[in-house]
Amino acid sequence: MNVPNKTHESHVTAQFGPRAASYVASAVHASGPDLAHIAEIAKTLRPRRALDLGCGGGHVSFQVAPHAGEMTAYDLSVDMLSAVKKEASLRGLSNISTQQGSVEKLPFADGSFDFVATRYSAHHWHNIRAGLAEARRVLAPGGRAVFADSVSPGTPLLDTHLQALELLRDPSHVRSYSLAEWMEMLRAAGFAPKEAKLHRLHLEFSSWVARMATSEVNVSAIRALQASMPRNVAEYYELEPDGSFSFDTMTIEAV
Ligand SMILES: C[S@@+](CC[C@H](N)C(=O)[O-])C[C@H]1O[C@@H](n2cnc3c(N)ncnc32)[C@H](O)[C@@H]1O
Repeated sequence: MNVPNKTHESHVTAQFGPRAASYVASAVHASGPDLAHIAEIAKTLRPRRALDLGCGGGHVSFQVAPHAGEMTAYDLSVDMLSAVKKEASLRGLSNISTQQGSVEKLPFADGSFDFVATRYSAHHWHNIRAGLAEARRVLAPGGRAVFADSVSPGTPLLDTHLQALELLRDPSHVRSYSLAEWMEMLRAAGFAPKEAKLHRLHLEFSSWVARMATSEVNVSAIRALQASMPRNVAEYYELEPDGSFSFDTMTIEAV
């Protein structure tokens, strides 16, 4: 084996770039109570300038844009941004612009946005504290932020199994944080988080691994890990015979 010399960011772009179209089309990403909640907040708030961090296939941007003055879709992957641009034009959402970069260093002035949202992206950030501090910096006084992501149940046994499954599926996975970790990190970044809303997300196994083009050897490792799960872990994740399972997701609104 050659000693690997890839950066984490190149893992992210290598994982997501070639799969941009499937993220635009993904049913898991295109709907959900978290997305509906974000849209509802945007509808009430009617932000002047909104930012979608780690926009992926653009589903947050597509929901927020109809209620916003300007919508910026931001991502590390240029391929994702091209797919978002194309889909925004098909949907007639002319107020969406795209910008490439890392959340850990945002190319925007302090207080540039009155609404900042991120969904299913933070578990890939190599430095979440820097990303949250940047989100806080670019939010205008009185602005609103929403953080949505997968969440770890927190107990070590359940946590280890979740992170192991995720990392085997996708080498750009960093960590699904627990609710307690999220609350601590948000407060440390200067946010005042409201109570989290929790949901369950069902993942159908074959489309879950296909979306990330997980290698056959890693798919076998995931199946082996699932087969050796203690009963309480299998029950918690509602493991099914074909490998499909469910985990927790959260949405936290913060000011
Ligand atoms: C699962 S997709 C996001 C899904 C999308 N937000 C949605 O709601 O459907 C994760 C995205 O986060 C982006 N990403 C990961 N780490 C990032 C970082 N440090 N800075 C910017 N974007 C990042 C990836 O390129 C990828 O497009």
